[in-house]
Amino acid sequence: MNRFYITTPIYYVNSTPHIGHAYTTIAADILTRHHEQRGEDTFFLTGVDEHASKNVRSAEEQGLDPKEFVDRIVEQHWRPLPARVHADVDFFIRTTDEGHRRFVQDFIERIRENGHIYEDVYAGLYCVGCEAFKSADELVDGKCPDHGIEPEWIEEKNWFFRLSAFQQPLLDLYDRRPDFVQPRFRYNEARSFIAHGLQDFSLSRAGQPWGVPIPWDPDQVVYVWVDALINYLSALTYARPGEDLRDRYWPEVRHVIGKDILRFHCVFWPALLLAAGYEPPKQVFVHGYLQIGERKISKSLGNVISPLDLLAIYGVDPVRFYVARVTTFGQDGNASVEDVHERYERELANDLGNLVSRTTAMIARYRDGTLKRAGGSPPVDLERLREDVAERLDAWDLSGGLEAIWSVVRDLNRYVESSAPWQLAKDDADAAALDTVLYNLADGLTGVAIALASYLPETAPQILDALRQSRDLSWSRIAPGVADEVEGIAAASPLFPRVDLPAAAA
Ligand code: MSP
Repeated sequence: MNRFYITTPIYYVNSTPHIGHAYTTIAADILTRHHEQRGEDTFFLTGVDEHASKNVRSAEEQGLDPKEFVDRIVEQHWRPLPARVHADVDFFIRTTDEGHRRFVQDFIERIRENGHIYEDVYAGLYCVGCEAFKSADELVDGKCPDHGIEPEWIEEKNWFFRLSAFQQPLLDLYDRRPDFVQPRFRYNEARSFIAHGLQDFSLSRAGQPWGVPIPWDPDQVVYVWVDALINYLSALTYARPGEDLRDRYWPEVRHVIGKDILRFHCVFWPALLLAAGYEPPKQVFVHGYLQIGERKISKSLGNVISPLDLLAIYGVDPVRFYVARVTTFGQDGNASVEDVHERYERELANDLGNLVSRTTAMIARYRDGTLKRAGGSPPVDLERLREDVAERLDAWDLSGGLEAIWSVVRDLNRYVESSAPWQLAKDDADAAALDTVLYNLADGLTGVAIALASYLPETAPQILDALRQSRDLSWSRIAPGVADEVEGIAAASPLFPRVDLPAAAA
């Protein structure tokens, strides 16, 4: 059986979730659900990165100890995030988990035993925002360009990882696996970074107690990025008590990440894995940034809605639809609340919602709710839809998969217009033709609902229920003639009711 293990980055907890975090989580969930539909053995991991030094500062400011601080924010804001976007995760990792801490220690002990760690003095500029050392030429006016703050001078005795020794093994890996990093331009970016030469880096920090202690030198803690990357492996050792999932899912892992953390995932992580004696991941997919502008929705009330408020206004499925639709996965995307609203009305309410309403209403009205199989060739090619969507999702093309489905939705709408069932209903001589049209519409919509289920997990079963079809979402069921003969179809209420933006938010 095919195995599909997918991860999101583990999020920093010093702030609260925003649309960018929801974006990655939704994308990974769409892929997981899709592979489940194909009958694969899937595992979906997300979680939080808690040992950042900024947490110590934020905790101090609030008069809390760091663990109290992260406990509060994780349980209040971060653990609920997957459920808020209907992401069906298999495990939520916290890097403060005992199982993770123990595994990190074993992992770096292995790297040391393999001879890839040495002691040296580190002196350099460190940006707390990036949690990374910066060279002078990376700074703009002495400040980190990403965080606008001046890095701090740090000089300490550290444990170093011999990254330089992994330049050739990494180049070999990239040559052997041209699809290791996707999309291709990100592969080139990572490979050329490696080809320019790699410098050893410090994998410990001295003089701060917040983190995982270095097992052979407990005065130091593991560098937060090393601690964080290891989560993808550590989770498998304790997510299911009594079971070691590494045998099952490693190295069948796909990491979904944003473009800002490419080096950590495409260079440091595979090197650390090789150093510890593990296979590198199967694939890293690097996506762009999704920016959604805030919008003042009512001048008199002074309300401003944040992009995550869209979940409450439009519902979860429309937000999932939007983030998958708005931009090619991998590219940056600019979005706006107006655009969300426009697509909600045009594509979800009109194209899809109306099609379901009309189809069920006509079956109820002309055939008393009974759906009968009828001859005649189908107006859409469901076999092709099944293959197209799977192919595009295998290539990480989330927007392409959705477009393939939408082209069938549009074809079905055109079919309603061109076959004009309301005319056929006027003449008994057209009874067989009417049966064909109604069956084709119900059958096409059944296939569409199954194809859409990973994107719209709430709406798809509603469509199947409205047509009184089985909720079985198996991928092979996207095929002509899948709709069963049923009775009792009633005119469905709108799937995507009108949303009056200001009123909803007020
Ligand atoms: N803790 C590290 C990741 C460690 S993984 C071993 C981290 N956390 S983060 O919370 O700052 O960012 C997590 C992810 O969110 C990154 O992949 C980042 O690119 C992504 N995004 C943050 N803002 C984003 C958008 N506006 N749009 C899309 N993704 C963006 O980095």
